[in-house]
Amino acid sequence: MGEQSSTAAPFVHQSSYVDDGTSIGKGTKIWHFCHILKGTTIGENCVIGQNCMIGPQVQVGNRCKIQNNVSLYAGVILEEEVFCGPSCVFTNVYTPRAFIERKSEFRQTLVKRGASIGANATIVCGVTVGRYAFIGAGAVVKEDVPDYGLYVGVPARRIGWVCKCGISLPRQGTGKLTCAACHSSYTENNNQLSAIEELV
Ligand SMILES: CC(C)(COP(=O)(O)OP(=O)(O)OC[C@H]1O[C@@H](n2cnc3c(N)ncnc32)[C@H](O)[C@@H]1OP(=O)(O)O)[C@@H](O)C(=O)NCCC(=O)NCCS
Ligand SMILES: [Zn+2]
Repeated sequence: MGEQSSTAAPFVHQSSYVDDGTSIGKGTKIWHFCHILKGTTIGENCVIGQNCMIGPQVQVGNRCKIQNNVSLYAGVILEEEVFCGPSCVFTNVYTPRAFIERKSEFRQTLVKRGASIGANATIVCGVTVGRYAFIGAGAVVKEDVPDYGLYVGVPARRIGWVCKCGISLPRQGTGKLTCAACHSSYTENNNQLSAIEELV
């Protein structure tokens, strides 16, 4: 979509560490004070803000934007074009204890293509955030989020649907929803939203 992609070698600011055994795609920029741990794959044309830690063994798809102060731990997978707002939090141990080793009990967190996670939101491990879903600032997500779901609050609940363009879809009773901003259209069925025509 809109943004230009680059075929340049990745840029890593000199204050950041990239461990051996990592792969960083063309055009990706990694800004100040980041650490990318071994076994991690970051796609093309991503932007990783200041003070991010990613890995080990984490996958980040193409064109993701990760804002300042985000840690992506083992068990987190971001598909393409995922937006992680500043200081959002991922987890990988469901019942942590300082005195019990639970590294073999990591639960996977999958964030699907095009989803956005608001500033300071927490994603409790073991959930899947659907395609183009939107997690509001400060939410605590504890359940799977359907495609296009708009979730806010603690614990996060679905308060509506968002368009692929990121704007909330108007609440209607008809089952058909049309975006006021980009005119994409969707149909709602059994608590799921499917695209009829996406114009972005
Ligand atoms: C979710 C969001 C996009 C607003 O969407 P919206 O469709 O305009 O929603 P509204 O503001 O009309 O709010 C709808 C309801 O949800 C509530 N709400 C909205 N965002 C909320 C949030 N983050 N947490 C808790 N409640 C929230 C509103 O208070 C309102 O409640 P009400 O119906 O009881 O009055 C916005 O609030 C948000 O969280 N954006 C994320 C910003 C961010 O983190 N950016 C990071 C990059 S800088
Ligand atoms: Zn739209």
